[in-house]
Amino acid sequence: MQKPLIFITRKIPDEIIKPYENHFQFKMWQSEDEPIPKDVLIEEVKRADGLLCLITEQVDEELLQQARHLKIIANMAVGFDNIDIKAANEKGIIVTNTPDVLTETTADLTFALLMATARRITEASNYVKQDKWKHWAPFLLAGSDIHHKTIGIVGMGRIGEAVARRAKGFGMEIKYHNRSRNEQAEAELGATYLSFDALLREADYIVSLIPLTDESKEIFNEQAFQKMKRSAIFINASRGGVVDEQALIRALKNEEITAAGLDVFTEEPIASTHPLAQMENVVCLPHIGSASMETRYKMLSLCLRNIQAVFSGEKPITPIT
Ligand code: DGY
Repeated sequence: MQKPLIFITRKIPDEIIKPYENHFQFKMWQSEDEPIPKDVLIEEVKRADGLLCLITEQVDEELLQQARHLKIIANMAVGFDNIDIKAANEKGIIVTNTPDVLTETTADLTFALLMATARRITEASNYVKQDKWKHWAPFLLAGSDIHHKTIGIVGMGRIGEAVARRAKGFGMEIKYHNRSRNEQAEAELGATYLSFDALLREADYIVSLIPLTDESKEIFNEQAFQKMKRSAIFINASRGGVVDEQALIRALKNEEITAAGLDVFTEEPIASTHPLAQMENVVCLPHIGSASMETRYKMLSLCLRNIQAVFSGEKPITPIT
């Protein structure tokens, strides 16, 4: 019997697929960096029984219509706004994501971004490297304190809780907003639930960790930025689409907020000419929340374990329902 054909949309290390080669035939897009063009992916999807894809692939109705044999789409990400889940489910295709394995790593990066923005780390490093450092001065590159300030986490899921644990270690006051109350975070971390508007008004650091959905699209808009303190620092480590980027640019230019730390953008990648990349008080990262070697291996391995489960007739480990 022919082994099921799994198409992988990026070149990944052979050692990751090796343990599965007895069960599957693998075909990969042969680039580590460049995403596969949509028309090529459509051709591959016509033949594939399983698809391991990344957030750079839009798995939409147009693509799914061509999927004749596809049983599973294993998305190498916890977020799945790149996939039309409804269309996949209507075709009986299982979709999985990679929660849990990336929680702590993404929380590390989120907190690092908050610290880098508050204490102007990239700006200060560039200052030295560009030979601007001539003297010590009382307010040279003075930023904002982190300890004992108020963090406002929007989206208190697994990553939100992990960020809150880090904030607790810094003696921060923890406020959060979420679709539903997170009683565990309240009991264990002393987190206080606030309405979205109250959180915007009270927090020194507003940290976005909410998934991109129809409801969360551009919730950080002009009105939201106007409600924040002038000293507020905005951190986004979820999806660019939850922010009205033009409104954020205006809020920063008009000094309605102090700074922003961004790992994600509406359109990725952004160029160095992008207004946000041009601002000294904005730290821009290339969507690297979960990018540690260990975690990226774990994410790929979880994708393959999900694929194996489905072809063995078992329940996938991390289905999107
Ligand atoms: C995710 O997991 O959703 C990240 O954004 C990509 O690693």
